[in-house]
Amino acid sequence: MTAGTVFVSRLIPEPGLVLLAEGGARVVVGHEDEESPIPRARLVAGVEECDVLLSLLTESLDDELLEANPALLGVAQMAVGHDNIAVGAATRLGIPVSNTPGVLTETTADLTWALLLAVARRIPEAHRYQVEGRYKLWGPNLLLGADVGPGAIGRCKTLGIVGFGRIGRAVARRAAGFQMDILVHTRSRAPVEAEPGAEWVELDELLERSDFVTLHTPVTPETRHLIGEVELRRMKTTAVLVNTARGDIVDEAALVRALSEGWIAGAGLDVYEDEPAMAPGLAEAPGVVLLPHVGSATRGTRGRMATMAAENALAHLRGEPAPNPVNPEVYETEAYRRRRADR
Ligand code: DGY
Repeated sequence: MTAGTVFVSRLIPEPGLVLLAEGGARVVVGHEDEESPIPRARLVAGVEECDVLLSLLTESLDDELLEANPALLGVAQMAVGHDNIAVGAATRLGIPVSNTPGVLTETTADLTWALLLAVARRIPEAHRYQVEGRYKLWGPNLLLGADVGPGAIGRCKTLGIVGFGRIGRAVARRAAGFQMDILVHTRSRAPVEAEPGAEWVELDELLERSDFVTLHTPVTPETRHLIGEVELRRMKTTAVLVNTARGDIVDEAALVRALSEGWIAGAGLDVYEDEPAMAPGLAEAPGVVLLPHVGSATRGTRGRMATMAAENALAHLRGEPAPNPVNPEVYETEAYRRRRADR
């Protein structure tokens, strides 16, 4: 059993809360309204009073918040992405940070594929057409889309995957079933060599050759606006861009121009630069399918993400290495030892 308080910033799936309680933690849920973020003052107060924070990607855990809490023993993020957390500051201050990698890989790859097909085959538009009673007669020219597989012409399509971690590879496996040629761009070639059938190319070449481009890189200072006006203009006018990673990777204003002016044919987005807001004109742009950041949103995956975050939180409480550390080097620091000793 583990004594101590875990502050859960917002309501998470039940299995995570149950596991925390079974582990002996006192659980405080900061905010139960599912449609609004936790107010900053509530977050600040909750972190001050807890031993461990179980966070979501909707909170900014900046230097200021981390520095103000010398008794904080760890941050367990219920997400694989952690760009909302000042991890560098956490490490300097001796605070272990953990996340939930791996568990959402297949679910997010499924959604990536759903977006790609939805844009190519105009699924939302066709759905609206049907339910609004506009379907009067089968038509040879009705709602024509693009092939994802080889189609009648028998030309294999090319999928460009930017970033080739777990999710990028899971998307590549799905593409193999559609007989697609796969181009990959990563910062180093190394991961691609192990993957049969995937060809590593420079980003410019990937953009020029691909029929579909899908983004699977974390957001860092180097990848912010990786896809901007210059890159969008390099793509085929028939190409589709899919982003289920992070909104900041794409210059959204440039994307609106690209869609409106026909530099590319469509985009499927699950993430936005200034979430939940969208750049002006994006919702009305032609060829878009827009989702509210639901890449990992299946009951099974979200339940497992919650229990993984709870396992990490309990390890932070006990002073054991977290099963999924983001900054494992923290355990070797004097700052970490002092923080535990001061407990
Ligand atoms: C993540 O985990 O980073 C996703 O964006 C939400 O599941």
